[in-house]
Amino acid sequence: MAQGLDVGTMNILSARQDGDETVFVQQRNSFVEIDHSDMAEQMLSRSDVLHIRKDNLVYIVGDDALNFANIFNEETRRPMQAGILSSDEKSAIPMIKLITEQVVGEPRQPNELLFFSVPADPIDDQMSTLYHQKTVESLLGDMGYNPEPINEGMAVIYSELADREFTGLGVSFGAGMTNICLSYYAVPVMKFSIARGGDWVDERAAQATGTPVDKVTSTKEGDFELDFETDVGGVEGALSIYYDNLLDYVIENIINEVDQEDVEEGLDVPVVVTGGTSSPDGFEELFSERLNDADLPFSISGVSRAENPMYSVAQGALVAARSEEERTAGTPTSDAGGAEAEAER
Ligand SMILES: Nc1ncnc2c1ncn2[C@@H]1O[C@H](COP(=O)(O)OP(=O)(O)OP(=O)(O)O)[C@@H](O)[C@H]1O
Ligand SMILES: [Mg+2]
Repeated sequence: MAQGLDVGTMNILSARQDGDETVFVQQRNSFVEIDHSDMAEQMLSRSDVLHIRKDNLVYIVGDDALNFANIFNEETRRPMQAGILSSDEKSAIPMIKLITEQVVGEPRQPNELLFFSVPADPIDDQMSTLYHQKTVESLLGDMGYNPEPINEGMAVIYSELADREFTGLGVSFGAGMTNICLSYYAVPVMKFSIARGGDWVDERAAQATGTPVDKVTSTKEGDFELDFETDVGGVEGALSIYYDNLLDYVIENIINEVDQEDVEEGLDVPVVVTGGTSSPDGFEELFSERLNDADLPFSISGVSRAENPMYSVAQGALVAARSEEERTAGTPTSDAGGAEAEAER
């Protein structure tokens, strides 16, 4: 038994193998603080809402936070910002602990192997991901797991490029960050992140049009398409402009970071995009167009989008965890085969 975990700025997701199926559990990485009252107590006692009470305050975490925020007229808050634990949020650690506990559940065996995603250090920001990584690692260790970090971009390669011998460029467009990884035969030769993603697009489009950020986010997550024809001067028009700018910025940084020596001559590199921000129709085509126009130091064979952009990091972390488990157990692939063989010894 092994587990994969995607620790994202907006979403936390686990992946586990159950027979032939992969089972995912997801929660929004956010919470709301409300005053304890009879009404709050009544609402909480009737449901399976994830919450903790501390003195006169109640914290509601995960998917339900937004509903409670609307009812009680409060703002939701986030344990993470720009890909890592937020230094501005004093409740970050207890909140992320609660959400993670719910998403991963109890270990199925003592010290169950769990691969969790961590972003690469950003090239356009001073922040370091080490404190974040070590904190999440220690929370998971306290829950009884054997936690191992995996780079977010590398997790994309594991989930989407198995049929290309784990060779290619994986890009995860998240909420707080964009993570980029170039891999040859499962060895990462280049990995970095940039501190821009969906949140950046939302904030810029909100600022440009004088619209509340939440409204921009819901327009974007609705039926927004990247076609550049509609809504000049409106929210969708502004979203298209900042999407375009984000993609150019990502490509510019890929060009700066790729070392010619990293790329095998004559090899056409497959590119795969994923993450919630890659969801709108037209995204794959736009990225492909921009890559073709750019002066890349390697040639690409094509751009594809993960079948399910929200799940691929958790899925890739699971693939890596299972393969590590098999490697250390030294047994052939079969469901739970590794664990059984381990127990028999
Ligand atoms: N249908 C959609 N269209 C456009 N954007 C979307 C859609 N669904 C989700 N998003 C955006 O995707 C982002 C969340 O994606 P994802 O869950 O991959 O990020 P994350 O892993 O939590 O963040 P990060 O990797 O940066 O830490 C948010 O910015 C959200 O607004
Ligand atoms: Mg992510």
